[in-house]
Amino acid sequence: MTHWNKTRDANDLVWLSLDVEGRSVNVLTHEVLAELAGLVAELHQDANIKGLALLSGKAGGFVYGADVREFALFADESAVAEHIASVHSILNQLADLPVPTAVGIAGVAVGGGLELSLCFDWIIASPKIQCGFPEVNLGILPGYGGSGRAYRRVGAEAVLELMLTGKSLDAEKASEIGLVDALVASEADLRGEAEAWLLAQGGKKPTPKTPLKTNIEATIKAISDKHLARIRPDHTPAPFAIIDHVRAHHLDPQAMSAGELDIFPSLLMSAASKGLRRLFDLRDRLRKAGRGESGVKRLHVIGAGVMGGDIAAVAALCGFEVSLSDQDASAIDKAVVRARAFYERRQADIATTLARLTPDFAGEGIAEADLILEAVAENLDVKKAVFAMIESRARPEAILATNTSSIPLEAIAEGLNHPARLVGIHFFNPMPVLPLVEVIEAKTTAPDVMARALAFAGGLKKMPIRCRSAPGFLVNRALLPYIYGAIALMLDGVEADRIDQSMVDFGMPMGPIELADQIGLDVTHDAGLPLGIDDAVAGALQQHIAAGNLGRKSGRGFYQWDGKVATRPRADYPMGAQAELAQKLLAPMVAQCRAAVAEGVVESADMADAGMIFGTGFPGFRGGVLFWAEGKNV
Ligand code: NAI
Repeated sequence: MTHWNKTRDANDLVWLSLDVEGRSVNVLTHEVLAELAGLVAELHQDANIKGLALLSGKAGGFVYGADVREFALFADESAVAEHIASVHSILNQLADLPVPTAVGIAGVAVGGGLELSLCFDWIIASPKIQCGFPEVNLGILPGYGGSGRAYRRVGAEAVLELMLTGKSLDAEKASEIGLVDALVASEADLRGEAEAWLLAQGGKKPTPKTPLKTNIEATIKAISDKHLARIRPDHTPAPFAIIDHVRAHHLDPQAMSAGELDIFPSLLMSAASKGLRRLFDLRDRLRKAGRGESGVKRLHVIGAGVMGGDIAAVAALCGFEVSLSDQDASAIDKAVVRARAFYERRQADIATTLARLTPDFAGEGIAEADLILEAVAENLDVKKAVFAMIESRARPEAILATNTSSIPLEAIAEGLNHPARLVGIHFFNPMPVLPLVEVIEAKTTAPDVMARALAFAGGLKKMPIRCRSAPGFLVNRALLPYIYGAIALMLDGVEADRIDQSMVDFGMPMGPIELADQIGLDVTHDAGLPLGIDDAVAGALQQHIAAGNLGRKSGRGFYQWDGKVATRPRADYPMGAQAELAQKLLAPMVAQCRAAVAEGVVESADMADAGMIFGTGFPGFRGGVLFWAEGKNV
């Protein structure tokens, strides 16, 4: 065996440990499962054993679930069904061993990892575990018998919570609901506890629990109100399939496990699951792109406005030593007040975090900083003057970064003695909320500066993509023509509400007209200047701006705003026509993403898709702009 190790002790207890070869964490690959099948068959043959225990062979982690990448290799639903049926058979045989069984988990035990644990009579956990069913995030449900086995232990409400939210539980919570049976003080105690429990059973298998009786419809109603209010079955069918599954089988946990076979294959092969699995993969890749050593401990931010203030606040929260300057002292004061409120909302230790954020009107922090980031007005001359000042004061190895959203980096770099130090770090507004950062490489940017800037973005817990310096970089280049196209259609007589609803039906968090209001019509106009705006659209925007109607921030734009809510008529429109409208609206976005890839502004279609998902809220279940446009999710 390659991945499993089996030993037998003097008390006739069999000890299994799993250490998947060639992987830093345990995952249930086809090969791992095939070996388990052999082991379980052997155990059934052995009449003398008194018990079985399983522990991880990798310290600090149990099993991360099935190998999601193998899921992509199934040809069709029947291949999936065959796989699921075979895993059910293996795990049923494991659960049916006639001797008591115990498993010890430490670290991550999610998805298939939790399902494997649930085949054991007694689950022991170290204090640091994460266990749950994240399958819904991939557009599926637990498929290795976990739904019924968890249901037997924790009842309908808790199993629905686990399956619908995809969230992991810690040791305390898992023990409180009965998902695990016993907690030990440390991972090293798992073995002793398993042994003691198995010996105490004297070879006799305990009778399985019966699930708590619940009023299933009332439970489903409460859970649906809580978790399904904002999601739609035509976008992501899995949560609704999970509800139906529990409703259909709640009287019989075994039937619930078996019933997974009826729905798992079609969910896995659905367009939504393909899109969501791609989302999972892209998220993983962007997080990894932000790993590494930035060498940045001290950050100086110049410009304490909307962006600079937020960047400084988030950086201090993430542990950086931050100094913040502005030509206007009151802007710094306001930024600190906003930072305090932000830390309060995040329930951070306010005093300690604020101590890392130094108001620095004189800019003394520049001389100490490892990275100096400017977020001053979007004006080339202003930025050049700021960088000349920075260069005269900064340490020679410090990175110089700009948050510009539209000025070519090469133009800023012209004024520098050492342009290789300049990089763009383009955050999105609202910066604390939006996970994407475009890290912009000018022709002059040194490769190590680029690498450090990517790692710095990772240090702010953001997801960076590399972009070459080109008008609008990726996100604005693709987003603004989509917004302008929508405004042009509106000027041609299509109702704003119809336009916006078509994109909400498609899965966008809001439509393009509402988004323009949300961004601010002035910003929507100015940000497009380097890209070019159709005269009629520019004229319409200028008219609104001249009248003081800037969108949400002034209470009126294309819509009337009631605080944070646009007053839209919300009529019902025929679905087919709406879907066609959505296609038409997205055409400029698709064209710009393709062009950005062709011109090497982003390195691949994957990165274009990641940028649009994490930077604009393009629906993850569609897998990305290009993935969707090329029909890869069907
Ligand atoms: P803002 O107008 O809110 O803040 C700019 C701040 O810079 C003001 O407090 C101003 O007093 C200060 N400032 C101006 N000139 C200065 C100088 N010479 N020295 C020191 N401080 C100076 O502007 P915002 O929106 O924060 O934008 C800043 C930068 O971030 C711009 O380059 C903008 O393009 C970029 N950006 C803005 C986004 C947004 O949605 N607001 C999104 C992404 C990037």
